[in-house]
Formats: sequence, C-alpha cells, structure tokens
Amino acid sequence: MADNGTSKDDATTSVSMETIVNLSKRRGFVFQSSEIYGGLASCWDYGPLGAELKRNVKEAWWRDTVTTRPDVAGLDCSILMHPRVWEASGHLDNFTDPMVDCKLCKGRFRADQLEHASCPKKPSKRPGECEGELTEPRNFNLMFKTHMGPVEDSAAAVYLRPETAQGIFVNFVNVVNSARMKPPFGIAQQGKSFRNEITPGNFLFRTREFEQMELEFFVPPGSDDAWYEYWQARRMAWYTDYGINPKRLRLRCHADDELAHYAKGCADVEYEFPIGWQELEGIANRTDFDLKAHMEASGKDLSFFDPQSKERFVPYVIEPSAGADRSTLAFLVDAYHEDPPEEGRPADDRRVVLKFHPSLAPVKLAVFPLMRKEGHPEKAMKIVEELRGHFAVQYDQAGSIGRRYRRQDEIGTPLGVTVDHQTMKDDTVTLRDRDTMEQQRVPIAALAGIVREKVAPPVSTRPLAPEGI
Ligand code: GAP
Repeated sequence: MADNGTSKDDATTSVSMETIVNLSKRRGFVFQSSEIYGGLASCWDYGPLGAELKRNVKEAWWRDTVTTRPDVAGLDCSILMHPRVWEASGHLDNFTDPMVDCKLCKGRFRADQLEHASCPKKPSKRPGECEGELTEPRNFNLMFKTHMGPVEDSAAAVYLRPETAQGIFVNFVNVVNSARMKPPFGIAQQGKSFRNEITPGNFLFRTREFEQMELEFFVPPGSDDAWYEYWQARRMAWYTDYGINPKRLRLRCHADDELAHYAKGCADVEYEFPIGWQELEGIANRTDFDLKAHMEASGKDLSFFDPQSKERFVPYVIEPSAGADRSTLAFLVDAYHEDPPEEGRPADDRRVVLKFHPSLAPVKLAVFPLMRKEGHPEKAMKIVEELRGHFAVQYDQAGSIGRRYRRQDEIGTPLGVTVDHQTMKDDTVTLRDRDTMEQQRVPIAALAGIVREKVAPPVSTRPLAPEGI
C-alpha cells in the first residue's frame, strides 16, 4: 500500500449525526431534496463537494473490485427489468417487511423494529405504548411499482429494481460468452436501487432511493466456502485501506435464523455510526439459487460447461453488496475530527478537519495568494491553471490565511499552497499538510509530482484468490 501520510489517531472524534448533517449542508456535501418546497422525506441531493466525494468512493470500489482484477468484469444494467425477473428472484413474494398501522394517528411502523420507533404524537412513547392501538402485522412489499407505456393496467406493471444484483444474474451467459470469462470470476455493477422502506431515516443511512456497489462472484460449487471467507477479508481491507478506523469496523456473521431464503451464509461489515453499530455491507453465499431460479423461469440454460474438465455445473455465487451512500456517510463520519483550541484561544475555536484518505478528498489542493496585491493573485491563479487539468484545485483569496486553511481543513483538502513574497523571487511556495499542519518550501515545478504522490489511491498487493485456489 502507498503511504499517503494519513494517520488517524485511534480515538477518532465522536460526532453526532446532527453535526454531520449541518456540516454537509453548510459546506455543500449534501442538501435535502426539493428543499425549496419543504423537502421530500429521506431524499437527499449531493452538493458540489458531496458529488465529488461519492464519485471518489465509487471509483475506489470500482478500482479495487474491477479495474485492478483480471477476474472481474463490469456491467451497467437498466433499472427497469422484465417483471418476470422479480417473480423468479422471489422479490415479488418475499421482498417484504412486516408493517403495523396505528389506528389512532395512522402512523406506519416496521413491526420488527418497534423498539427503535417513537409515536409521532408522543415521541417519548413507543408506537402502541401510547393511546393508539396497533393493527396486526401484515407484509408490505418494498418494491416500487410503476407502469411502462401509456396504459396503466396490470399487464404494463414494472418495478424499479430493489437491488442491482438481478441485472448481473440475467446477463451471466452474455458476459461468459462476450468477455470469455470462466468461473471463478465476477461481474460487478454500481447503480441506483429503490426500496419503499417503511421507516427510512438517519440521513443517508436508510433512504428509498440509493446506490449500490455489488459484485456477484461465480465459483465452482465446493470452492464457495473458501471464496466466501476470501471476500469477507478483502472487503474489510478495502475500508481500512481507504482510511476507516479499524476500531469502528467489524464483521458480524448472521445466525441461521437471520439468513435470507437464498443464502447459505451471510456476514455484515458493520460500522459504528453515530446511531450505533450498523450494516455497511453484506457478504453472502447465495449458492446457485439465483441462476437456477432464472433457468427455471426463463427456460434458458445458465449453467457453465468447462471444456477442460468436461464438467457442466451451475456456479455458486459469493456476493459482496455495499451501499455507495452508506459508505460515503461512513467515510464522512470517520473523517470528522475536532482539534482542541490552541493555548490562549477561546474554547469554541476548535479546528474541524475531515481527514479523508487523500484519494477520496473532494478537493485535492487549495491555492492561496498571501496578499491580494504585489502579483500574488496572478501567480496563484497561474498555478491553479497549470494543475486544474490534473487535480481538483480550489483558489481562495478571501480572509486571513489562517481562516483559509481552516475552510479547507473543514472540507478535507489534503494540501494547501501559499504564494508569498519569496515566491515572486524564486518560484517556490509553502506547501501545508492538512493533517500535520507542517509547512515546507517547495519549487512550483515540483508541485504536480508531490500532489500526484499524495493523492494516489492505495495500491493493493493483497492476494487475488484464497490460498490453494
Ligand atoms: N443484493 C443484496 C442486497 O441488496 P442488502 O443487504 O439488502 O443486500 C446491500 O443491501 C447494501 O445496500 C446494504 O448493506 C446497504 O449498504 C445498502 N442499502 C440497502 N438498503 C438501503 C437503503 N434503504 N438505504 C441506503 N442503503 C441501503
């Protein structure tokens, strides 16, 4: 792994979700959707910095999962799929949560999560523990239904996909034939999924529209347990390679009675969010359930014939399935630090700094003219123009240099360059490091190389397969 000098102390600052939401809005990471109309519950828009951050998170996943692996190919499938896909996958029948209604306030709650809910009328009480009586639980299907074409009858019903995985399963043969892949190999996809969650909430954590980053890794039956272990370790390492504090990350294996109907095993990567330990990603051994279900429903052969061993088999599937928004939230929360004020400064003069891994940071470099005269702005703009084509660069000339550093620290910019009197004499600048706050004098000509090295993604030297396979 490249060492980008991002070291986080073990005791990452504990931060409330409220602080993260406020910072996100103030600095342009995330806004409430349709805010000028009062907002749409649990829908969020990524602002200028958030859009960059999320793109960088997705790019980091794609690089680790697809680009740097010879055994994974990517796909980008449509959100709308043939309705029979959801029949075969079991989503039409089984993709449900148990729901109860309050007969008094008409509130709707997940029957299995009542202990985490509160009565909308009396927030100190749980639903059903106030005056309201709850209905018997009934199953509520989480898929969004819509109609294709101008006729709104049941024959035209289609669904917004609730997971990206099914697009991969139905394209299994297309990828085998076109990309000449043979198990063990994977197909990866990133994209929007939609679930009509009964109780969304906690900012980006649970929303009705979200983005997934899914890998379906097809393996010969019998090797599935080894690959299942492999992907657990590999996915845990991805988060820590990109700077997540390992003390806030854990793997939780599902008990047998928690397993989905298709899964032989499942482990959640959990992160300690401000709302407690929660799922960040699920890694499941889906067996041959999906390919067999689609074989049966479509009548098409989705088995694989190995010409070397002359064996035909339906591959087993190991599925690491992560949320792009949930990961972005975890990287944001984990990056948040507050340094205590320097001696003699007021108690609220804390330095807020987002210690993103430099490759994830939305802005890589900020350039400041020390003064608004003596040619400093022109020189600083020249540096910006030279580096803009290579990195996300910001120019800032407003306020004292200390305030400008603070503004960049708060959005996680790893490097700051100041043009000063000496620059005008010898073409050197001061380069300040976000985390150590150390400054060094460097020639302008060396800047591009220094920044490139600093913001390089981690280079994984981890094995590409389980030992012995
Ligand atoms: N194909 C398997 C699958 O979809 P999942 O555990 O339901 O598994 C995988 O979802 C990941 O997608 C979750 O770990 C989470 O990161 C993300 N995710 C699921 N529902 C979400 C929601 N309502 N809002 C935000 N992210 C969600």
